[in-house]
Amino acid sequence: MAPPVVDALPEKAAIMADLPCKDLLIGASGSIHVTYLSQYLLLLRRQFAQRIRVIMTRTATAMVPPATLELYTDGPVYTDLWGTNDMPCPHLRLTRSADLFLVLPASANTLGKAAAGIADDLLSTAILASPTPVLFAPGMNSAMWNSGAVQRNVRQLRDDGHYVIPGEQIPEVGTGDFTETGPGPTVDQVMSHSWHVLMRRYKEDYWAEATSTPPAPPSGRNGLPLVSTGGEARTA
Ligand SMILES: Cc1cc2nc3c(=O)[nH]c(=O)nc-3n(C[C@H](O)[C@H](O)[C@H](O)COP(=O)(O)O)c2cc1C
Repeated sequence: MAPPVVDALPEKAAIMADLPCKDLLIGASGSIHVTYLSQYLLLLRRQFAQRIRVIMTRTATAMVPPATLELYTDGPVYTDLWGTNDMPCPHLRLTRSADLFLVLPASANTLGKAAAGIADDLLSTAILASPTPVLFAPGMNSAMWNSGAVQRNVRQLRDDGHYVIPGEQIPEVGTGDFTETGPGPTVDQVMSHSWHVLMRRYKEDYWAEATSTPPAPPSGRNGLPLVSTGGEARTA
């Protein structure tokens, strides 16, 4: 007799369908916090996103090989503005289909380019081309974070309607005995901010859709409106 077929797929599909974000786009830049990114991806995949796609800057790829992150994502990691045969113009396609665009981690440089509207690589171009506000999770040492320039850029990004997570003090990865602390996003922060931004987006989408066509008044017989005298509704 053939062994019973144990098919885990329907169960997995049901769990996936419950995850709130259908399509999460992550932009990883050259902050040393990118070395933790696989752990964030694992959790986001389990608890938040049905599909995760990743863009990396050139500096980020020097810190973590894209092939490592591809183990945790759906499809290739995108690094090139020109894209691939399957994905031409990724700055447009990836941002149009994303329910949430999270820059994790956001380096001081990437924050600055986004605040100034500079678009000179795939990530910065995608940020500028994003039709919806972007959520930034900065990671850098305290001196950089507290600099006038970074604080100015954070204010500018918020004024432009984007979200910037104020990171907690966490140790940076150091080289040898050179270890610093600086603000970086904790996993909890990333999860809760991502939830809030996504819910806000869904609510705004719902509101726009629900109010663009005023609901037709309920009509009774002969097309006359229903009136109610407190008891049963009847036609006037
Ligand atoms: C070892 C190393 C660690 C770095 N860590 C950070 C960091 O945590 N945060 C940051 O903003 N920049 C950091 N930098 C500097 C950025 O990598 C640099 O500004 C780079 O131009 C960022 O480019 P990107 O934003 O295009 O990825 C680091 C550089 C090196 C070499």
